[in-house]
Amino acid sequence: MMKPISLSAYSRVVFFTGAGMSAESGVPTYRGRGGIWAEYRWEEYACQDAFDADPNKVLDFHEQRRGRVLACQPHAGHMHLAALQAAHPGLSIITQNTDGMHQRAGAREVVELHGSLWRMRCARHGAVEDLGAAVYENRDCGLCGGLLRPDITWFADAVNAAVFARAQQLIEEAELFVAVGTSGIVYPAAGLVPVAARSGARMIEINPDETELSGMFGERVRETAGVAVPRVFEI
Ligand code: APR
Repeated sequence: MMKPISLSAYSRVVFFTGAGMSAESGVPTYRGRGGIWAEYRWEEYACQDAFDADPNKVLDFHEQRRGRVLACQPHAGHMHLAALQAAHPGLSIITQNTDGMHQRAGAREVVELHGSLWRMRCARHGAVEDLGAAVYENRDCGLCGGLLRPDITWFADAVNAAVFARAQQLIEEAELFVAVGTSGIVYPAAGLVPVAARSGARMIEINPDETELSGMFGERVRETAGVAVPRVFEI
C-alpha cells in the first residue's frame, strides 16, 4: 500500500480527473457497467449533429443529467482535494468532468477541458452561466433568439483551444501528476498524460481498474477516488 505523500515537497502538482472521480457521489461514469454510453447512444444525444437534428431531445437529455448531478453531493475525495488546493497554491485541478463537483466541494480554480453542464452557449454570443437548476433558464439566446446548446465538448467537437493550452502548460510544469478515475481513451485529453510523463513528473494513477494508460504511471493505486485521495495525500 502506498505511503502517504506530503505535497510540500512539490511546487507544481496537477490532479487530472475523469468520471471515476465523481462515481462515489452517484454520478455515472461514461464507459463500463452502468455507464452513460451503455444506456444512451452518444450519436443521438451528445454531438452537434444530434442537436441539429432534434435540439429538444438533446436538451431534455442534458436537463436530465443536470437533475441527476444536482441530486448528488461531493464526496470525501472532492472535499479533500479542495482542501489540498487551499493549502498548496501550486496545485491545479484539470478535469474532463462537466458536473462541477470539484467547485461544489470548494475548489477555487478548475480547468474544465470538456466545459460545463452549468453553462449554455450561443453560436453568436458565447457562453452564459446557467447555474444551479435542473431545468434550463432559457433554451434560446436572449440577444438573438438563436438556440442555446450546452457549453460542453461533445463527440466531434473541438476542445476549447485556450483551455487546452492552459492545461498543457500546467501539465508540462508539473512535478507530480495524479490521474484519478479516467479511462484515458478519449482524445485530446488522453494525450495530456504522455505530456506529463515526458516532462518527467512523478506519475500516480488512482483507479480501481487497469486502464490503457496504466503503463505510463510509476505508481498505481488500485482504490477508489473517495478512499485513495484522502488517504494518500497529506494536507
Ligand atoms: N474511483 C476512481 N476511479 C473509478 C471509480 C472510482 N470510484 N469508479 C470508476 N472508476 C474509473 C473506471 O475504472 C474508468 O477507468 O473511472 C474511469 C471512468 O472512465 P470513463 O467512463 O471513460 O470516463 P472518462 O475517462 O472521464 O471519459 C472521458 O469521455 O464520453 C467522454 O466527454 C466524456 O469526459 C468524458 C470523456
